[in-house]
Amino acid sequence: MSTEDKLKNVSPTFGNTVLGVVPSTKALSIVGSSRSNGEREADDFYPTPPYAVEELLKREVFSGNIWECACGEGDISEVFKNKGFEVISTDLINRGYGEQLDFLQSDLVADNIVTNPPYKLALDFVLKAKKQGKNKIAMFLKTVWLESDSRYDMFQDTEFPLKTVYQFSKRVTLYKGGVKMKNSGMIAYAWYVWDKDYVGKPTIEWIR
Ligand SMILES: C[S@@+](CC[C@H](N)C(=O)[O-])C[C@H]1O[C@@H](n2cnc3c(N)ncnc32)[C@H](O)[C@@H]1O
Repeated sequence: MSTEDKLKNVSPTFGNTVLGVVPSTKALSIVGSSRSNGEREADDFYPTPPYAVEELLKREVFSGNIWECACGEGDISEVFKNKGFEVISTDLINRGYGEQLDFLQSDLVADNIVTNPPYKLALDFVLKAKKQGKNKIAMFLKTVWLESDSRYDMFQDTEFPLKTVYQFSKRVTLYKGGVKMKNSGMIAYAWYVWDKDYVGKPTIEWIR
């Protein structure tokens, strides 16, 4: 089955999105701004180490399909696929994996949305995922992302609430093409999981 067919199967609300389209000017200009300081990777591309995804899967149950909506080179997607999940993989940039799609402009719907989003757009990604996801959202983000006034309201939302933060006890080192990335190992990461059916305060667990 082609990816487009899979996407159509994801939801009856599949709209007018055309795969492989040139990304929107708005998205390009926002993402492109990360290039200008010369320090961040182009388009915020930092692959997630597969072991970090496996640690999430040891702790969280996902039912239904998975949409990796900023799939990069497929590092998260491949772990889910190897566990037998149906995975839809898309990214703003064609990196030779999945289909080209601006998540923030998309009207596709999936059972679960799992990604390591571009950091500067992370709040936009979570808010969008709450609209396009049916069951759970899992995002690999910095621990400090818990703070900031701009995210306060989103964290208080009880319609699609934050369920658990899985904090890595040891720093996660990021590699790209086998090469350790600059400043990698200096940042604390966690998985943030939202669950539409969850009722209660968010919990914290540690991944050791
Ligand atoms: C931090 S990387 C993570 C890649 C992959 N999720 C992983 O964990 O290995 C963020 C990815 O987001 C993609 N991206 C940036 N803006 C996007 C958008 N508006 N829609 C979809 N993908 C986007 C980038 O091209 C990049 O591949």
